[in-house]
Amino acid sequence: MTISNSPKERKLVPPYVESLEPYKPGKPPDELKKELGIEKFINLASNENSLGTPDSVIQAVQQGARELSRYPEAGGLTLRKALSERYRVKLENTTIGSGSESILANTLRAFLHEDDEVLTSEGTFIGLYVLVNGMGIKLRKVPLKNYTFDLEGIAAAINDHTKIIYLCNPNNPTGTIFGRAEFERFMEKVPEHVLVVLDEAYYEFACKEPDYPDSMTYRLDNVLTLRTFSKAWGMAGLRLGYGLGHDRLIDFINRIKLPFEPNILAHYAGLAALQDREFLMKTVSNNEAGMEYLRTELDALGLKRVPSHANFILIEMGSADEVTRVWNGLLKHGIAIRPLVSFGLPTCLRITIGTPEECELLIAALKAIL
Ligand SMILES: Cc1ncc(COP(=O)(O)O)c(C=O)c1O
Repeated sequence: MTISNSPKERKLVPPYVESLEPYKPGKPPDELKKELGIEKFINLASNENSLGTPDSVIQAVQQGARELSRYPEAGGLTLRKALSERYRVKLENTTIGSGSESILANTLRAFLHEDDEVLTSEGTFIGLYVLVNGMGIKLRKVPLKNYTFDLEGIAAAINDHTKIIYLCNPNNPTGTIFGRAEFERFMEKVPEHVLVVLDEAYYEFACKEPDYPDSMTYRLDNVLTLRTFSKAWGMAGLRLGYGLGHDRLIDFINRIKLPFEPNILAHYAGLAALQDREFLMKTVSNNEAGMEYLRTELDALGLKRVPSHANFILIEMGSADEVTRVWNGLLKHGIAIRPLVSFGLPTCLRITIGTPEECELLIAALKAIL
């Protein structure tokens, strides 16, 4: 095999893989701390849980560690049974994976072929764009409307090739939600053979909102719900997500998934997390308090923010230069937030809600920079 992509030779990778942008990781926190001469580094860039991981989960992982020489239970039956009891569905309606992103990848792999297309919005979860582009599948994006999914526009864009529609509610990176009536009107327009993947990674932060259309209360045959333990349960590093949907959809996803994902620690952790309502409530109330504080302080600073229902908040800086200036300025204070150029929102920044202390440090740094 020749490691070359010269036009004269057989291509090493398909053109759609060659044109993927390589992932650009940020500098590791320890390196940044050394470089900037700071003791503490605050990461408000990745929508992680600032309260950390519940003790119950850490204990369960320690217990699971004793079984690391074993493969995990291939069908994931114990954890899937716990999920099926929680959501009052059949075992056959559940799937688990190494993060909800892995289930998204398995879903795309299972259902897309030939000239199928994926339809979604601009300014949504970048992981979807990467996965679809990496398969050489056509991705069509409808512009956001006032930082929100334009469901009417998406319904109008459905064509004969549309196979999967991806919706994200609350949407990352805008934090906005679409409401019940809008979702119901939309679903009336979606043909039955089109699969709607409803990414609810931030469900736990939005579900109290009366107008939030919790997909599990609808139970539509062509809707796949994706949720995760990464955010509200502080388990991003473990990689555990789950999918809920019609038996037939789940059957195909389970056929294509790697049999031993997620890893054995994630099985133990997920079972413990599902029991830990107290941690979940603490997370949600920390988020509400942080959101309230940031709303007030960002408004006082005259920054334009988008109303959010997730564990982060988007601010519109007006120009890409201002985004770079504020982002770099915060890094010098030891605070990372997310610039949104790669999400197609070059004039915006996204801030994850931290602990009260982290939020105060962020505002103090912003005051110094602005
Ligand atoms: C909307 C959305 N979906 C999925 C994911 C991935 O979650 P997981 O860690 O479960 O793969 C993220 C993570 O940032 C996200 O924002």
